[in-house]
Amino acid sequence: MVDSEKSPDGCNCAEEPPPSYNELNDTHSHSDSGRSMSLAGKVTVGVCAGLAMAVVAGTAPFVSPALRKVCLPFVPASSSQMTNVLQMLKGKTGKLVDLGSGDGRIVIEAAKRGFHAEGIELNPWLVAFSRFNALRSGVASKTGFYRRDLWKADLSTYDYIVIFGVETMMESLETKLAREITATNHVLACRYPLPRWTPSEVIGEGIDSVWLYTKDSKVS
Ligand SMILES: C[S@@+](CC[C@H](N)C(=O)[O-])C[C@H]1O[C@@H](n2cnc3c(N)ncnc32)[C@H](O)[C@@H]1O
Repeated sequence: MVDSEKSPDGCNCAEEPPPSYNELNDTHSHSDSGRSMSLAGKVTVGVCAGLAMAVVAGTAPFVSPALRKVCLPFVPASSSQMTNVLQMLKGKTGKLVDLGSGDGRIVIEAAKRGFHAEGIELNPWLVAFSRFNALRSGVASKTGFYRRDLWKADLSTYDYIVIFGVETMMESLETKLAREITATNHVLACRYPLPRWTPSEVIGEGIDSVWLYTKDSKVS
């Protein structure tokens, strides 16, 4: 009887039939596509995370100098600064170091002019790039590039110490040099002078200036 299917409120609404096999199958195919979407999502997230990590690993050595007590960023010497340094080194020879050697341009040019030249540099990418440049320039055997903190380097073993510094570091560097240099050492300060020492020679003007100091330049 049709009446027996009526609900207590008199409504003639039959119970919903159970889902058919096809409907069940539909549900499965939806959840399958959901699963494959989430796999694609996972792959995308993985690739993005990998790329982000590679970018961080690649750029961190360039950014990290800014986070140190003395911020000495990678700003390579300009051609006029290079000319003035090489002019100051003309006719001289011996063992040279560039403190914070960047891409190795000073070290490589000094080696081409007969120096045994070394670079001390924090950034491992720049150390590797400098070694490659030295090899390409045919001076690999006359150069050495070391991943090291310039504040921990022993400067007493070098005849010429080159620094393209920032103003804020020069006083601390002066103190370190005063402790370590002897009569045989010379210091070439580029861009900024040592604040209290008297240079024995100056080449260039403004930001291109190079100041030469010896042991006699020290204030007593
Ligand atoms: C102004 S750039 C000079 C580059 C190079 N001397 C030139 O003239 O082309 C300074 C370099 O010092 C490096 N540096 C910064 N702090 C350093 C530290 N504590 N020890 C060694 N290198 C450092 C930086 O990574 C950067 O390459």
